[in-house]
Amino acid sequence: MCEARQPMSASPPETAPEVSQALDDLRCLEMEGRAAFEAAATPEAVEAARVDFLGMKSGRLKSAQARLKELNPAGKRIYGQAFNETKAALEQAHEAARLRVSSQRGVASRLDVTLPGTAPRLGHRHPLTQTIEELIDLFARFGFSLALGPEVEDVFHNFEALNIPETHPARDPSDNFYLNTGALLRSQTSTVQIRVMEAQRPPVRIISLGRVYRPDEMDQTHSFMFHQIEGLMVDRGVTMADLKTVLRMFCSAYLGEEVTIRFRPSFFPFTEPSVEVDMKWIGGDHWVEMGGAGMVDPNVLRAVGYDPEQVTGFAFGLGIERLCMRRHQIDDIRLFYQNDARFLRQF
Ligand code: DAH
Repeated sequence: MCEARQPMSASPPETAPEVSQALDDLRCLEMEGRAAFEAAATPEAVEAARVDFLGMKSGRLKSAQARLKELNPAGKRIYGQAFNETKAALEQAHEAARLRVSSQRGVASRLDVTLPGTAPRLGHRHPLTQTIEELIDLFARFGFSLALGPEVEDVFHNFEALNIPETHPARDPSDNFYLNTGALLRSQTSTVQIRVMEAQRPPVRIISLGRVYRPDEMDQTHSFMFHQIEGLMVDRGVTMADLKTVLRMFCSAYLGEEVTIRFRPSFFPFTEPSVEVDMKWIGGDHWVEMGGAGMVDPNVLRAVGYDPEQVTGFAFGLGIERLCMRRHQIDDIRLFYQNDARFLRQF
């Protein structure tokens, strides 16, 4: 049973064999009892060990006590003292084990797994992302497919191919974000018109969406970075009437019939004629520009190898923030970029 049996150094050499045996058994009992209390990991296990070793009725200590009466008076004295020491040691081991598991039980009782959990708040897509996805869907229904272009653009695609010569004020360094390489952050998504036409023959019917950069002062309707949706349709016989129809259909689909838009004559180097498109702003007392549009300039078509005698096209570029603002009655563009959850949560 007890493998760590050792002679009791406390027993004098002349001790009778039955006393030595009883002392050995007692020592063994103490070791096993200590081990049992130390191993007990739950209150139930501690209690089971207590009953086994310290139980008043049939505990093993109780049986060890019964051996007293088998011994002669000298043996009784020696064994009695050893017994008291063992009993004290086991009671101490029991107390230590009891304290240990009850403090663990404290942690366990504070951790009530039946309580309802704290549900993590799920995020959702940014209102601009939602708008972009909706615009892609809407124009897909008009037959426009999606084309994307780089945000870091070269001078050729951002200006030259769009009929904006070197001397044009739009190319002013203070009007653009140039990199050391000579490339720049695109100032308009019209760059993608060129990239698409370079890569494919007419007919073309695409939209492109993404960020553009301009050194504009931030205010309620301006930002140095914003998003545009660009549209381009080139085919035989495309006219200004097609442009106006597509934009009107788009606006009533996205903003609703009640939002009025108007076309104003304007100038863009890459369209001829050109218009600006305005929408009646929130509150209804003034117009806000939603973007530019026009018939693709023959020079632009020629630059990409299209024949302006064969095909014509229209193009438009609209500010996505402003569309989203008008749709949701948001009166300050800066709200889109502040990451204020109180604002974002509303969409
Ligand atoms: N790129 C112009 C801008 O950012 C907007 C624009 C005007 C786009 C006319 C066009 C266009 O496609 O035909 O101000």
